[in-house]
Amino acid sequence: MTTRDDTILVGTPDFKAHAHARYAELRARGPIHRVRSADGSAVWLVVEYELGREALAHPKLSKDPEPFAERLRAAGQHIMLAGSGFGGNMLTADPPEHTRLRRLVSKAFTAGAAERLAPRIEQLSHTLLDAVAPAGQADLVAAFTRPLPMAVICELLGVPGERRADLQRWTREGMSNPSAEQRAALLSLNSYLRGLLDDKRRTPTGDLLSQLIRVHDDDHGRLSDTELLGTAVLLVVAGHETTVNLLGNALAALLDHPEQAARLTARPDLIPAAVEEFLRYDAPVETTPARFATEDLTLGGQRIKAGQAVAVALTSAGRDTLPPDESCRLDVTRAEPRHLAFGHGVHYCLGAPLARIEAAAGLRVLLSRLPDLAWADPSAQVRWLPAGITRGPVALPVRFTAATA
Ligand code: HEM
Repeated sequence: MTTRDDTILVGTPDFKAHAHARYAELRARGPIHRVRSADGSAVWLVVEYELGREALAHPKLSKDPEPFAERLRAAGQHIMLAGSGFGGNMLTADPPEHTRLRRLVSKAFTAGAAERLAPRIEQLSHTLLDAVAPAGQADLVAAFTRPLPMAVICELLGVPGERRADLQRWTREGMSNPSAEQRAALLSLNSYLRGLLDDKRRTPTGDLLSQLIRVHDDDHGRLSDTELLGTAVLLVVAGHETTVNLLGNALAALLDHPEQAARLTARPDLIPAAVEEFLRYDAPVETTPARFATEDLTLGGQRIKAGQAVAVALTSAGRDTLPPDESCRLDVTRAEPRHLAFGHGVHYCLGAPLARIEAAAGLRVLLSRLPDLAWADPSAQVRWLPAGITRGPVALPVRFTAATA
């Protein structure tokens, strides 16, 4: 039975604290439910794997919020525009614009390009862990899972080191539930990147942003000013916050399952396959940004009216690919776990090869450097970030055997 229950609030701190139990209840009642997100926006939420795939590739569900923006704003609903802070990019475009925007950057994100970054990612991981290894304790979010993906995406794009702390703050606040601070953070990020693009136009530096500027300047028809900035903002946000949460959720899962952590420490060759299990077990993008029905349609037996928003709960879909008792069990040796953590269809994550390499390299170095990793306070509950779309821990306070100099 599908629920039409406007009292279900997805993305609130209470829902986040019990997300897997809440999604299990919803799945038991049906594949799609009318819910409200934390800002009060009404949305049809798909909670099952197969229907999730169908929704993500549905030809009548558009990613472009602009035709619906005025009505949503008038109703005070912002979060479902997800992307209003960084418009003019592939994530909020339908083909053929989507195809054109994606093609311009896809070469930089192939599996081969990601593989070539692995040694540098390991080096960056060692540098971060050098700073905490002698202490015997740390918050791994502050010390590792947050700075590592920021360093990688900034090196790729060509963002100078001294502004990375600001970028981390702006992306974290920008992905929070809507508020004055959240909007201010996205504006700061936009204005910083606009200035950086101007600098790189004057002095090209051979990185991805400089290449995008060349595409824009050499051939005006292919990338407008708005699209250039929108793509830069998207790559910083999508290339950072998500990977922070993949590493964070993987470590939270391993800290809750020390016997699984011990297996990976003993057999680091298992880590790349284990990353797929982490993506299934606790997907870092909890719900996709909304899609909008371009005409009346039926999904999972439910009538969706033209203009209504549909999102897919990817964190729920990963727990729907196995029988209920099995799906809540972490097994780092599971053969080919199925999940929708990177989406599906033409918007399938552009950065998936990079995210996989980054998570595997980061975990490999961390497990080798911090032996006997354990929660600092085993009775403390994980606090989840107050973010509408992403899912990850606020902090990972841990203790471990300190390395002697
Ligand atoms: C664990 C890490 C990551 C996860 C879980 C993730 C997840 C996703 C998902 C679910 C989508 C599809 C959203 C939708 O259909 O509405 C997406 C799209 C996208 N991701 Fe990722 N992502 C990750 C890392 C990255 C990285 C490292 C980059 C690199 C820059 C990146 C860039 C993008 C871009 C550009 C899109 C838009 C693709 C399009 O619209 O065609 N992501 N990602």
